[in-house]
Amino acid sequence: MTTNILILKGSPREKGNSAILADRAALGAQEAGAQVESIYLHGLDIRPCDGCDLCDAGACIIEDDMQTLYPKLAAADAILLASPIYWFTFTAQVKLCIDRWYGFQAHHWQEVSHKQFGFILTYGDTDLYTSGAINAIHTYETMCRFLESKIVGIVHGSLDKVGDAEKHPELLQQAYNLGKLLASEKQNGQ
Ligand SMILES: Cc1cc2nc3c(=O)[nH]c(=O)nc-3n(C[C@H](O)[C@H](O)[C@H](O)COP(=O)(O)O)c2cc1C
Repeated sequence: MTTNILILKGSPREKGNSAILADRAALGAQEAGAQVESIYLHGLDIRPCDGCDLCDAGACIIEDDMQTLYPKLAAADAILLASPIYWFTFTAQVKLCIDRWYGFQAHHWQEVSHKQFGFILTYGDTDLYTSGAINAIHTYETMCRFLESKIVGIVHGSLDKVGDAEKHPELLQQAYNLGKLLASEKQNGQ
């Protein structure tokens, strides 16, 4: 029973700190036997939800890259969202993407709910509170409660310049472990 993990990278820096940690989580997951796909959100055309509510009729009508992401979301057993903190929460790239789940969950509840979630957050400030990472975590917790989904783990750390994550073996290890855990939850029947 292979676990299917979707990793959504929310930083515009393709090789930035959150991406480095996300790649380490992918390694942990793959080495635990999971199938992993990583997506660089900044490289996609994802438009904001325009609140038209035409999704009430069955599906989001905005023709952009979310249309290829929806089936991947549906197929994922576990989702890992990795983002730096921008202005005291996750990036706009993440927000654009998760806002569009609104138009999906209404008619695809079984496909978007009851998943395993992992989160990676990097920030320049010293801790969860001054950085604003706490705001992102609060949103993720609320989101997971709504989606009746489980948070398997949150890895976060103070990092700044591109590549800083490589100098933090403890964070790399935590990310690796999170990937492994996401891969094993399904086998555990959770
Ligand atoms: C536009 C912008 C806004 C930022 N806002 C915050 C912030 O509110 N709190 C914080 O601690 N760090 C902030 N940072 C620092 C980044 O979160 C930090 O450099 C992070 O490690 C970058 O991760 P990445 O390499 O994955 O992009 C900001 C950086 C940028 C470019």
